[in-house]
Amino acid sequence: MSERFDIGLEQLTGVVALSAERVFRGATDSQRTFFLETFGCQMNDHDSEKVAGLLISRGYQQVKSPNAASLVLYNTCSIREKAAQKVFSRLGEFRTRQGEGQIIGVLGCVAQQEGEEIFERAPWVSLVCGSASYRKLPELLAQVEAGNRRVTGLNNDTTETFETEMTRRDDPWRAYLTIIEGCDKACSYCVVPFTRGPERSRASDSILQEVRQLAEFGYSEVQLLGQTVNSYADPLKKVRFSELLVNIAAVPGVRRVRFMTSHPRDFTKDIVDAIDATPELCEHVHLPVQSGSTKVLRAMLRTYSRDEYLERIALIRAARRPISITSDIIVGFPGETDADFEETLGLLREVEYDGVYAFKYSPRPNTASLAMGDTIPDEEKSRRLAALQELQREIQTVRNARLVGQEQELLVNGKSKRENQWLGQTSSHKVTNFTSPEKDLLGHYVKVRITSAGPNSLAGEQVG
Ligand code: 5AD
Ligand code: SF4
Repeated sequence: MSERFDIGLEQLTGVVALSAERVFRGATDSQRTFFLETFGCQMNDHDSEKVAGLLISRGYQQVKSPNAASLVLYNTCSIREKAAQKVFSRLGEFRTRQGEGQIIGVLGCVAQQEGEEIFERAPWVSLVCGSASYRKLPELLAQVEAGNRRVTGLNNDTTETFETEMTRRDDPWRAYLTIIEGCDKACSYCVVPFTRGPERSRASDSILQEVRQLAEFGYSEVQLLGQTVNSYADPLKKVRFSELLVNIAAVPGVRRVRFMTSHPRDFTKDIVDAIDATPELCEHVHLPVQSGSTKVLRAMLRTYSRDEYLERIALIRAARRPISITSDIIVGFPGETDADFEETLGLLREVEYDGVYAFKYSPRPNTASLAMGDTIPDEEKSRRLAALQELQREIQTVRNARLVGQEQELLVNGKSKRENQWLGQTSSHKVTNFTSPEKDLLGHYVKVRITSAGPNSLAGEQVG
C-alpha cells in the first residue's frame, strides 16, 4: 500500500540540505546528474531513497527530468503484469535516441525477473540490478561509469542486507527503515521470494543506531518496512520483534512507530500487548488476508485457514486501544468460485476493516500458481473487484462515522491551498483534513476534534 502527500519544497530542501552537508565533502564531479523514478511498494520507495543517497555521495546531483540526467534509473515493480509493463514503456521513450550520452539502468523487481533479457529488448540499457544485489551497486556503478555497457547484479540468493552511509529521504517527518529484506514464505501467486531473495533481518543494534540518528535529524515518525515485517529475527538474538518495537519507541524524539506488512502466521499476542503498553506504537496493523475462503488460502499456500486468521483478528480486537486493521485481497485466483468469493465478502463484513487494497489476480513468472492457469475471465474479476470495493466503502463509511465527535492526535504533513486548511494523519493511519488559523503547523502534532467523516478521510478542527 502506498500513500503520497504533497510535501512543500521547503521541507524537502531542509532534509536534503541537512544530508548534503555530509555528502558534498566527498563530491568529485558536480556535473554528474541522475534521474530516478520508482514504481511499486514502500520497500521500493525506500530502496530508491538509499540508492539516491549512494549516488549523491558519489558526487551526483538529483534532477527532476530524465532529459536533464546523465544517469537515468528506473526502480521497478513486477507484482502484477501491469506494473511490470510500465518500465518498458518508459524505456521505449529512449528508442530513437538509443540513450545517447546517457547511462540507462533498470533496478528492482523487473530487473531481477527479466535479467539480461532487458538488454535484448532495450539495447540502450547498460545496467540491470535486482534489489538483492544493491550492496554491489557502488562497484556496478563504477563499471558503468568506466564505459561498460552490460553490467548486471542478478544474484538473488544472498545473506546481505542493503545499508547505506547516507539516505536521501523524501519525507521530512516520517522516515522509512527496512528491518527485514526478502521473503521466505512461498505464496503461490507471488514473485517477491524470487525477485527479492531469501529473508534476512538487520541486526537490532544497527537498526536502533539508525533510529537514534533519525531522531537527531528531526524525524518523529519511523515506519519499519519488510515484506513480512513481523517475521523479523534478530541475527544478534537480542530481541524479538515486539521488543524491537518497544525499544525503537523509547528512543528520545520518536513519537510514532509504524510497521508494515505483517504476515498472519507470525502475528502473535506479544505484538498486540506491545501496542497496548506503548503509546508511541501506532494504532494500526496491516494484516493481509488475501482471501476469505480456506480452500483458496490453501491453494495460495498462505499457511493459515480462515478461522486461524480470524483468531489473529480477535487478538487485535481484544486490545484496550482501538487498533485499526487493513488488508490486501486478491480476487479471481485460479479456481475461485462464487461461493469462495462470497466467503471473502463475509470476512470483510466480519472483520470490518478500516481499509482494503484489492487486486485482480495476475499470473506471474517464477510462481507456483502459474501452472494453475488463469481460470477466471477478466470481466468476472472486474465484477468481483467492484462488488468488494463497494462493500468495503460502506464498511469504511460506518467505521469512520463512529469517530465523529472524538479527539484525535494528528501529525500535520500537508497544507491545502485553501486558507486555514491542513492535512494530517491519525495514529490509526487515517487521512484527516482540518482547519486551524495557525501559520506554521507542518511536522507538528496537533489535537483535532473530528466533525465529519467520509469513507476515505476524516475532517475536523484543531482543539489543541
Ligand atoms: N496478482 C494480484 N495481486 C497480487 N499481489 C501479490 N501478487 C499478486 C498477483 N500475482 C497482491 C497481494 C499482496 C499485494 C502487495 O499485492 O495482495 O499483498
Ligand atoms: Fe512490487 Fe513486490 Fe517488488 Fe515491491 S517487492 S516492488 S510490490 S514486486
